[in-house]
Amino acid sequence: MPGIRGPSEYSQEPARHPSLKINAKEPFNAEPPRSALVSSYVTPVDLFYKRNHGPIPILDHLESYSVILTGLIDNPTKLSIKDIRSLPKYNVTATLQCAGNRRTAMSDVKKVRGVGWDVSAIGNAVWGGAKLAHVLELVGIPNLTPSTILGGKHVEFVSVDRCKEENGGPYKASIPLSQATNPEADVLLAYEMNGETLNRDHGFPLRVVVPGVIGARSVKWLDSINIIAEECQGFFMQKDYKMFPPSVNWDNINWSSRRPQMDFPVQSAICSVEDVQMVKPGKVCIKGYAVSGGGRGIERVDISLDGGKNWVEASRTQKPGKHYISEHSSSDKWAWVLFEATIDVSQTTEVIAKAVDSAANVQPENVESVWNLRGVLNTSWHRVLLRLGHSNL
Ligand code: MTE
Repeated sequence: MPGIRGPSEYSQEPARHPSLKINAKEPFNAEPPRSALVSSYVTPVDLFYKRNHGPIPILDHLESYSVILTGLIDNPTKLSIKDIRSLPKYNVTATLQCAGNRRTAMSDVKKVRGVGWDVSAIGNAVWGGAKLAHVLELVGIPNLTPSTILGGKHVEFVSVDRCKEENGGPYKASIPLSQATNPEADVLLAYEMNGETLNRDHGFPLRVVVPGVIGARSVKWLDSINIIAEECQGFFMQKDYKMFPPSVNWDNINWSSRRPQMDFPVQSAICSVEDVQMVKPGKVCIKGYAVSGGGRGIERVDISLDGGKNWVEASRTQKPGKHYISEHSSSDKWAWVLFEATIDVSQTTEVIAKAVDSAANVQPENVESVWNLRGVLNTSWHRVLLRLGHSNL
């Protein structure tokens, strides 16, 4: 393990922002208050959610750190951080979302297994690094390659952190070679987050960022990259992060019947107010985020105050002062939009948000229809209850 090691206990975790809500003691998972998400388009590093399946790795010597590229290729190669930094650098603004975002609301219907997240297991950052497609060219794999001569069809990322789900082994995941070798897919080996050196929580010194895909595939603390024939057989690809229908339970589950989840579906959440918040009669500003996977833009965000009978359209922005147009070259295709609408509240009201993406995919109305035993991908209409009363809003 060159230069970096995964401890077996939590005594050397980095310090975290005091406002983060800790969702499990070990491993340390934390999310910011929802209001923090709508205060800026780019989420500050301190307030970015943290999802770790084991203790945070420790880097002993950056000079001795390297990533090994191996597997079904002719010339296995070791790359130092200097080698990666010498490749052209790209800054990609991309939203990372845990597949378990909004899981708690799924458990309200029927208990699911997994870390209980509210709506903030998501963040938007500017990731800086080399394109994986360019790194793979260094080992003789040209752009847009679906299969190597030796039969490699997937790219597996292996970390150094020790996870109990992997029986003390490292966290790992894979993506198809065709995606990894497509420069337009913007898959990065990132060493920067928001213009700063990546910090320990988010994968220092090097992590993968797979835009438009559930966060689980963006492996942190990279140790090796393997070119393999079948997709990664690790726990988090084969026995987790899969979407099952509501009828599947822990007695009849057949993990191999479903594919690992990759792209995330269209999602939105209201962040400027809490669910069940006291407000005074009058105008209330409703702000939140909307995002879709696979590089699809956000075509519309609709707000309803009457259970979905009538809707008004919210405004959408990415960069301040610039009009957002879905699918336009001026938009960040992998990033969320922030939405805003002002509503008039004269009685206790349930506010609902639903987003529509550029393929006209719409969030499902009810959480029941997407309920699944692991509580992943709760993308149902987001609802908050505003109670009329005395408040300082
Ligand atoms: N990579 C490693 N090595 N170990 C992990 O536990 N968690 C994954 C992914 N990459 C994980 C990992 C999951 S489930 C998510 S949602 C994202 O990292 C979270 O990234 P963040 O902590 O930088 O927000």
